[in-house]
Order: sequence, then structure tokens, then C-alpha cells
Amino acid sequence: MISLNIEKTLGFISKENVFAYEAQVKAAQEALENGTGKGNDFLGWLHLPSSITKEHLADLKATAQVLRENCEAVVVAGIGGSYLGARAVIEALSNSFAWLQDKKSGPVILYAGHNIGEDYLYELTEYLKDKKFGVINISKSGTTTETALAFRLLKKQCEDQRGKEMAKKVIVAVTDAKKGAARVTADNEGYKSFIIPDNVGGRFSVLTPVGLLPIVVAGFDIEKLVAGAAAMEKACGKDVPFAENPAAIYAATRNELYKNGKKIEILVNFNPKLHYVSEWWKQLYGESEGKENKGIFPASVDFSTDLHSMGQWIQEGERTIYETVISVEKTQYSLQVLSDEANLDGLNFLAGKHVDEVNKMAELGTQLAHVDGGVPNMRIVIPALNEESLGGLLYFFEKACGISGYLLGVNPFNQPGVEAYKKNMFALLNKPGYEEESKAIQARL
Ligand code: PA5
Repeated sequence: MISLNIEKTLGFISKENVFAYEAQVKAAQEALENGTGKGNDFLGWLHLPSSITKEHLADLKATAQVLRENCEAVVVAGIGGSYLGARAVIEALSNSFAWLQDKKSGPVILYAGHNIGEDYLYELTEYLKDKKFGVINISKSGTTTETALAFRLLKKQCEDQRGKEMAKKVIVAVTDAKKGAARVTADNEGYKSFIIPDNVGGRFSVLTPVGLLPIVVAGFDIEKLVAGAAAMEKACGKDVPFAENPAAIYAATRNELYKNGKKIEILVNFNPKLHYVSEWWKQLYGESEGKENKGIFPASVDFSTDLHSMGQWIQEGERTIYETVISVEKTQYSLQVLSDEANLDGLNFLAGKHVDEVNKMAELGTQLAHVDGGVPNMRIVIPALNEESLGGLLYFFEKACGISGYLLGVNPFNQPGVEAYKKNMFALLNKPGYEEESKAIQARL
């Protein structure tokens, strides 16, 4: 189970003021439970972990088996909420060098549809040229340009390389039950497909097939992931007292920090495998809270790497930031610092220590230095990088996000702001139906 410690924020805000949120948090929890708050048609994530059936997981596992047996590489095509959750979990659980290993335990997982990079797509399709590959096409709307564009290329390449029949077997769609081009294509082509529930928005969809299918294809245990999330669903439930509910405390603390001028939250990790968990977290909080000219700006750093770049700013820059550190209690493997006869680097004082002991002291030393430098620190400890812990961590952040958005007074479940760039891009590209917008935008250039 994860634990949250806010002690090192308390020189900057008071515990009393954090606990003063108790009634508001209770109201937010009730609004989520009763569906009486803003965005209440997107609350399907709330009790998702405890409602996922064995049959559903078995269906996902069986589909994954087909892909694992027939593919050397599987391309996960999706963007935003249809991409980041799967990548967060897969990268956190994978061997850092899985890609380079000769003996692979399953298909290599690749990503597409999350950018419009011509070179990226060219290089991807080149790499796939002599590979038996499959595709998981993930899009709730089924009309997202980035994903649709990549899928067009990949579908054709897969069919050309592997034949229509095999392509049918190794292309899977995760999309809306009825609407959108991805649904129509899946039905027309006879692809196996999974449904993204109407009431689950992209950034809250990691525990739907959007996340679960790629994760199980990558060889990870989705039963344990869901069990970890279900345990956290209980631990953050509405009847858990405020002081014992980590989602409640996190939501209240960050809102109190925000009220006190701390406008930027930096999610910190000391484990490079957590990089994409931070990317997922940034989307979750950025899209949920950044609206109506309000919202904490979610940023992230990977330490100790970024202590050698962003460390200076964090230590001495503008004092508008606070940090939330994700600390992983136990490593998976064991590696000690070696003794060296010449000791030219002066590191013999560390000989025999585990590398992680050094990392943990870097973590503690950084926390104390940053607090001294005026940066409040929260600390989330997870026992290990495994499926249970990650499931718990993801649900914890989702639940806290729902509460936090309501405390801030916004609708945490919509994202009207992401349409603006799309409208301009379509106008600039002369998309049919955008004639007026095209004229208007050309006049501005
Ligand atoms: O969280 C969200 O709603 C977005 O990030 C979407 O997931 C993203 O835009 C992709 O949308 P779609 O799944 O419709 O392709």
C-alpha cells in the first residue's frame, strides 16, 4: 500500500489549514459518489477497479495471447489518455534494456499516433519492414488526427506484409461502442475490439482496455494491477476518515499550497522507470484542473538526472513551486558499489553499499535542501515497482484529482481547451467543413 507524508509542507502551510478542508473534501467525495458535481457523466472510473470482472480480464488475456504468439512487435497507436497510462505502467515494469535484448520474452511494444513526426513515422515503418507486427488502435472518439494518421499507415503495412487474414488477427481496436471511424473500421474489417465506456474520459481510462490491453500484451499481470487499484479504491473511499484517506489529504494539501502562492507542482522521482508515470500524471492534472484561468501547473523531473539541470532552478528560482516526491521503497535487483584499489574517484567510502542506499541519501539530502530553499515537499512512498503498487498509485492520483478539481471549483472531467489548436490546424489544412475558419485564419497570417 502506498503512504503519503505531508510533514515537510508544514513549515509553509499549517496542518490546521489542511484539516480545515475536511468538510469541503467530504462534499467533493459525496458529489463524486452521488454524481451531483460538474462533469457527472464521466464518473465511470470511480468504482472501476472493484467492478472489473474475471471474464473481462480473461478476454483481455486471451486477446493478448494471440498478439504475443503472432507478433515480434506490437504498435500501440493512441495519444493523450489513449496512450499515456499504458506507457506509464509498461515502462515502469519493463527491463530498461528490453528493447536491446536478443532473447525477448514477448513482443517489443512500440508507440505511434502520439505525434505527427514524419521522421518518427518513417523510421517506425522502416523498423517494422521485416517484423511480424500487430497494432492496437486506441481512440475513444475514433477521429483523433494523430492516431488516425498513424493507423492508416500501419494498417496498410500490416496487411501488405502479413496478408489480410493475419492482419485481421493481429489488429485490435479499443474504441467507442458505436461511434467513430475506429469503430466502423473495426466492425467492417472484423477486428477484435474492446469498448471504452462512455462514462470514462481518456485520462481516467488506464484501467479500461485502453491501458489494460497493451499492459497485458507487454506481459504484465493485469489482475494484480487491478487488485492494487481496488485496494486503493477502498483506502480512499468516502467513509474513510479524512486523516486516514491519502487522496483526501493530497487534494487538500495541494489546494492549500496553491492558495498560498505555490502555483507549480513538480512531481519528482528517483527512479528513471517512473518517467512516464509523471507524463501520465501531468496529463491527468493538467487537463483536469487547468481551466477558467485557474489550476496548479503540473511539471515533473527525474532525479538525480535533473538535479544536474533543473536542480538549480528548484533550489533558488522563483518560490512558486512545491514538490511531490514518489519514492520506491525496494529495488528489484541488488547491486553494490565496488571497492577500488587506486580509489582515484574517492568513492571507497561507499564500497559495499547498495546503489539504492546512495540514491536514498540523494533523495533525503535533496528533500532537506529544497525545503531549506523554500520548496514544500510531499512524499509518496510505494513499496516496490510492481503491478499492485502501480495500480494503487494510479487510482490514488485519479481519486485525488477528482476531489482536488472540485475543491478548485472546476469541472475536472472536461477539456474544452484542447479543441482550439485542432480548429486552427483543420482550418490551415483546408479540411472540408472548415471553409469559413480557413478564410479567417488565412487573413491573420
Ligand atoms: O484525456 C483525454 O480525453 C484526451 O487526452 C484524449 O484521451 C486524447 O485526446 C485522445 O482522444 P481519443 O481517444 O478520442 O483519440
